[in-house]
Amino acid sequence: MASVTSLSDSVQQHLASALSAALPEAADADPLLRRSDRADYQANGILALAKKAKANPRELATQVVSQVVTGDVIADIEVSGPGFLNITVADKAITENLAARYADEAGRLGVPYAESPGTTVIDYAQPNVAKEMHVGHLRSAVIGDALVQLLEFTGETVVRRHHIGDWGTQFGMLIQYLDEHPHELDHKAREVTGEEAMSNLDHLYKAARRLFDSDEEFKTRARRRVVDLQAGDPRTLAMWQKFVDESKIYFFSVFEKLDMEIRDADIVGESGYNDMLAETCRLLEESGVAVRSEGALCVFFDDIKGPDGNLVPLIVQKSDGGYGYAATDLSAIRDRVFNLKANSIIYVVDARQSLHFKMVFETARRAGWLNDDVKAYQLAFGTVLGKDGKPFKTREGETVKLVDLLDEAVERASAVVREKAQDLSEEEISERGAQVGVGAVKYADLSTSANRDYKFDLDQMVSLNGDTSVYLQYAYARIRSILRKAGDVQPAAHPELALHEAERALGLHIDGFAEAVAETAAEYAPHKLAAYLYHLASLYTSFYDKCPVLKAETSEQVENRLFLCDVTARTLHQGMALLGIRTPERL
Ligand code: ARG
Repeated sequence: MASVTSLSDSVQQHLASALSAALPEAADADPLLRRSDRADYQANGILALAKKAKANPRELATQVVSQVVTGDVIADIEVSGPGFLNITVADKAITENLAARYADEAGRLGVPYAESPGTTVIDYAQPNVAKEMHVGHLRSAVIGDALVQLLEFTGETVVRRHHIGDWGTQFGMLIQYLDEHPHELDHKAREVTGEEAMSNLDHLYKAARRLFDSDEEFKTRARRRVVDLQAGDPRTLAMWQKFVDESKIYFFSVFEKLDMEIRDADIVGESGYNDMLAETCRLLEESGVAVRSEGALCVFFDDIKGPDGNLVPLIVQKSDGGYGYAATDLSAIRDRVFNLKANSIIYVVDARQSLHFKMVFETARRAGWLNDDVKAYQLAFGTVLGKDGKPFKTREGETVKLVDLLDEAVERASAVVREKAQDLSEEEISERGAQVGVGAVKYADLSTSANRDYKFDLDQMVSLNGDTSVYLQYAYARIRSILRKAGDVQPAAHPELALHEAERALGLHIDGFAEAVAETAAEYAPHKLAAYLYHLASLYTSFYDKCPVLKAETSEQVENRLFLCDVTARTLHQGMALLGIRTPERL
């Protein structure tokens, strides 16, 4: 079973052919069909067309109406106001459409693949080696993972890249420090891995940083050590590798907590581009995109100035020959465009790095690596704020560790699950608690548009009322429970039955799933899918309030309502999965 033509597309087609019959010059015109409160759909496009054709809009609308073929899909169409069209879809068409979606064996609910999918590289979940992950890394991971799922669902080839911070000055500093204080890590790190080892590394990092900032001679030794590292000195490299390996164990443990699949092969950190850096600089210098300025290799931009009014360049190579963040990112672009054959590259990175990406992208465009066919885009996300509206910090003013935050979310969620639990074992409570808690954190992040700051408020996140994942998960579990209670009675579509208003609203919204997915994927805007799902759950709730399911009047109606329940559940499940959120069968 392939994709299902949505009702809105069928209505659109009916209208378009009626329109071109009534007004031949409007053959390709868009009737501007929208879902509407007054009827199922409203078409507002006639007004502009009439104006263009110097015709009376109401008259043109009436002509279009007379050309519309009613029956199968459109049950009723009428002119309203100055020349709008109000369209009512046949109950039968709604049920048949849902039945076709329900029968889709691929489990895609009839959602079509994109017409011309390409290759997208997504740069996300990029923590830094030897540092603990904080809430900022949460956003990149959560938003990036949702985009991966969404784009893959549309048929796009997605290459995941975790551009971890594993290269540069700080590693010279760390290695040199550890060399000079060999026991500092030793006595602590013995036998510990994962979170604890990482916490030790983090302390080591802070101690090294303090020394680096206060002791000029240490600074010089640390800088020399970076050169050793970049030149491939075996002992230095071996120490570096240890840091990386240790950190990765920790990263994986956090990603697992986040219920997220991160693959080792997709981790290509800054160090992965080391061999390209010199070439990148050469290409930029030879093409004149970058110029030497006081020994450094720089790219200048007319519109980017510092507070003193002077131009701020992107420094590709420092005057001491060292390469920084920009050189690595520019090399990564070359790799992604020329080796991975990307058509699009998305960077899920904090908005505070926007200037960096603006300059990097513009440089790559001048070099010809990016152009109209190969685009780069920073999906810049806002800051995570505390309840007080200020950047999220612990009471002591430190950045909040991601692990602590997830643990707390799971704890709170488990309390909610326990309170409502009727027939769940302790083991089930803790499993559901994790799914609800992590889901709550992800949903809170994904349901606001990424560029906005958002308040990290656990009370609100695990609330059963309102726009939360818990609400959606309960809606799903409630449906599953009804289906279990139905016992031997199987869901079955009965297109001959007249539908209740609440059933129609639910059905038409389910029909809109494909459109919601397409829009969400095209705009890289997971919050649109979240809004769609929340609306779906609300429509289900009002259907459930108004239409008895197991106690419906006839056995056909029971089956048809069970069918509506099931197709809602599948849509919720699929939509939540695209956001990376679980839907437990029981809660
Ligand atoms: N590691 C960086 C950080 O923690 C994010 C890397 C973003 N990606 C990139 N290609 N620069 O801020």
